[in-house]
Amino acid sequence: MSVNRVIKRITTNTLQEMKSKGEKIAMLTSYDFSMAKIVDEAGIDVILVGDSASNVMAGHETTLPITLDQMIYHAASVVRAAQRALVVVDLPFGSYQGNSKEALNSAIRIMKESGAHAVKLEGGLEIRESIERIITAGIPVMGHLGLTPQSIYKFGTYTVRAKEEAEAQKLKEDIITLQEAGCFAVVLEKIPAALAAEATMSVGIPTIGIGAGAECDGQVLVVHDMMGLNKGFRPRFLRQYLNLYEQMNGAVKAYITDVKSNDFPSEKEQY
Ligand code: KIV
Repeated sequence: MSVNRVIKRITTNTLQEMKSKGEKIAMLTSYDFSMAKIVDEAGIDVILVGDSASNVMAGHETTLPITLDQMIYHAASVVRAAQRALVVVDLPFGSYQGNSKEALNSAIRIMKESGAHAVKLEGGLEIRESIERIITAGIPVMGHLGLTPQSIYKFGTYTVRAKEEAEAQKLKEDIITLQEAGCFAVVLEKIPAALAAEATMSVGIPTIGIGAGAECDGQVLVVHDMMGLNKGFRPRFLRQYLNLYEQMNGAVKAYITDVKSNDFPSEKEQY
């Protein structure tokens, strides 16, 4: 007899309940079907189809070149794999900064063409109108403050943000703005742990940290980084769980040796 297990989908409400109960939220990125299936079946709460795909999938130096069409392609692949996780998709650089109508159109395309459950935008007060317009259309929005990689050429460096009082103050105001605008959660990237703790306490919506300390309501990492696929990338905030680069490199070398030595395919591996 086959038993059909009903998988209950994580929603934005689930994340809110988790914050209320003090239960931490685990989020990872994914950009393709195979990785998303592993991540989802392991029980991750949120899958972020991040514009970090620009770096880890396409090999660009920054997140700026990735297009809306490319994000939709990655997102649709992830959605096909994710049965339990909430799937959040980054609006890429240039798809929402122009005006709120452009932002809404981009968010609608992502939802319609990929089947994802929410979008993420980088920024605070300056994009409030866009966030409100997207949410009014019924699309959940996750915010993103601190180190916002789409602004890398303004920052000039990937070092910790908001160490100075003025920037810390703006972040504290921005997180309130994002909550008032209706965001269901906010990513806090690479800011001092004490500031992230204060920001987390100041709002009712969950914060998800990356390089923002232990007091955030959840944590996010780029899956390629935590799996050790991104050779040589070892920032302080990263916990690397595997060394897949070395393991995969070794496997490819073994395959090459087997082919060249006529060891593969064996009799059992042919028809
Ligand atoms: O694009 C991304 O992967 C992100 C995370 C680092 C939060 O925005």
